[in-house]
Amino acid sequence: MDGYHRRMSDERQYHIGFGRADLGAEPPTIVLLSGDPNRSTHIATDRLRNHRVLSENRGLNSYVAELPGGQTVLCATSGMGAPSASIVLNELAQVGVRTVIRIGTTGSIQAHVEVGSIVISSAALCRQGAAADVAPVEFPAVADPFLTVRLAETAARLGITHHVGITASVDTFFEGQERIQSSVNPTLLRHLQGMTEEFRALGILNYEMEAATVFKLSSVYGMRAGCVCAVVAQRTVGEQVVTTVKADAINHAIDVAIGAADGW
Ligand code: URA
Repeated sequence: MDGYHRRMSDERQYHIGFGRADLGAEPPTIVLLSGDPNRSTHIATDRLRNHRVLSENRGLNSYVAELPGGQTVLCATSGMGAPSASIVLNELAQVGVRTVIRIGTTGSIQAHVEVGSIVISSAALCRQGAAADVAPVEFPAVADPFLTVRLAETAARLGITHHVGITASVDTFFEGQERIQSSVNPTLLRHLQGMTEEFRALGILNYEMEAATVFKLSSVYGMRAGCVCAVVAQRTVGEQVVTTVKADAINHAIDVAIGAADGW
């Protein structure tokens, strides 16, 4: 996989705000990549040991910290959506990252994928614009199979309710996930009407906003990627995020990501 990695750089990266020289003698090659900067801070400061701030530039909070087994890991932030994630992934590849574990939140579109559980994406339907700048639309948005199995085995070992399957990654939280009641926009384009039902019938588990781009770009940039998301909305019931379960579900997703990264 290292063979076709494009370019390494010693420069401080413009957006993430750190470079290889900031990573110490044993630079981490794994990143725990959260959409939310506060989640990155929480993982580094509350869930791991000996954290060090790398940058809190543009809300793309980045830290280096130690996994339970002592190995160093990056905790970094993708921001919301594919364009921001694409920039962060490119720069992370340039500072030597080889394994990406996305830790996100998601809305289930299947009745059996309940709020509070987690989804581990084996692949993603890519309805995302940024990835089309990097590879043809037909390029597979697929997780690394070994990392995916490791995430699923970790979830099973920890007794965390989890589902492994295909995710739909889209560019908008409202229209692109067929939200109408909670959206300012009463007009849903015809090609989006009925999409959720169609995706459900195809066996797609959930909606989120970064996985497909993370998978495609990681393949092109020579990195392995996996994705674990906390289910915080149940679209067979309603459009809203269920805030009462959010913290526990995210902590379960973090437990799985840390457990899988440890010793990887
Ligand atoms: N993130 C999403 O993209 N959709 C949801 O419904 C919840 C979180």
